[in-house]
Amino acid sequence: MAVSYKDLGLVNTRELFAKAVKGGYAIPAYNFNNMEQLQAIIQACTETQSPLILQVSKGAREYANQTLLRYMAQGAVAYAKELADAAGQKPIPIVLHLDHGPDFETCKSCIDFGFSSVMIDGSHLPYEENVKLTRRVVEYAHQHDVTVEGELGVLAGVEDDVKAEKHTYTQPEEVEDFVKRTGVDSLAIAIGTSHGAYKFKPGDDPKIRLDILHEIEKRIPGFPIVLHGSSSVPQELVKIINENGGKLKDAIGIGEDQLREAAKSAVCKINIDSDGRLAMTAAIRKVFNEKPEEFDPRKYLGPARTALKELYKHKNIAVLGSAGHAQD
Ligand code: G3H
Ligand code: 13P
Ligand code: ZN
Repeated sequence: MAVSYKDLGLVNTRELFAKAVKGGYAIPAYNFNNMEQLQAIIQACTETQSPLILQVSKGAREYANQTLLRYMAQGAVAYAKELADAAGQKPIPIVLHLDHGPDFETCKSCIDFGFSSVMIDGSHLPYEENVKLTRRVVEYAHQHDVTVEGELGVLAGVEDDVKAEKHTYTQPEEVEDFVKRTGVDSLAIAIGTSHGAYKFKPGDDPKIRLDILHEIEKRIPGFPIVLHGSSSVPQELVKIINENGGKLKDAIGIGEDQLREAAKSAVCKINIDSDGRLAMTAAIRKVFNEKPEEFDPRKYLGPARTALKELYKHKNIAVLGSAGHAQD
């Protein structure tokens, strides 16, 4: 049976993005696959009073089961309310978003299942096919007041099953036509970010193309822009992982200063997943290494959850600038 996100206490991205663009900050889009990640995200965003986009990928749906994930998101709304009540605050607004929707059917299934926002990722398709597919998803989503993110340009790295060796930067001259013809609510662009922990090679100048971002902004002033692949790969986490038996060689991310710069512009959603994976892995490896006698999952997932929460609080406060904007 179909369920509307409105009955689950979720919101779509429309108003949140308008406020973020105006306020010069970006809303965090954090991926989750399990309970500890979800708890850390809700706690961090409540404590920093940040609006939140909870992301579910196709891989997450396969890993955790889509029914369970949906009820977890519903539980997250109730949990956020409980935390807010205890602190005498209003609950933070929460969006439930499909990350990298691969086709119309997956987007439709999520919309019918209580998601308030979907991404249709037609970025690997020829331009006209991307327009057609995105338009189809928008038509269905908007009937349900669900917002849609499209993508133009291809990020290097791994996205679900697809691996692109090289960036294909978004062409600024295409964005106006794409936005107009598809009716999307936000646009993900490729300006040198990429998925995973290996975003640059040693010796590369680890910079994203803010010049392309500004060129795009000139063509679609005030239109909500999304950055994927925006983990910073904190070197202190890589060090802990490697000191405790891990083997992450030459892992390099996007500088926090560059993300902060981008967040001040029309970039109003920044996707972060890998940094959370690193924080959890570092904390778990440390426990395994230092206390080999432990075998209660709470004894290593608990520290992992705490590390994750601290990481997300730092992002909201110092990188995205979303802290304090939950009730804008
Ligand atoms: O875009 C990729 C996200 O980090 C989700 O990753 O497809 O492995 O769940 P995943
Ligand atoms: P990272 O791999 O840089 O965390 O990017 C995540 C992402 O873009 C999810 O859509
Ligand atoms: Zn992504």
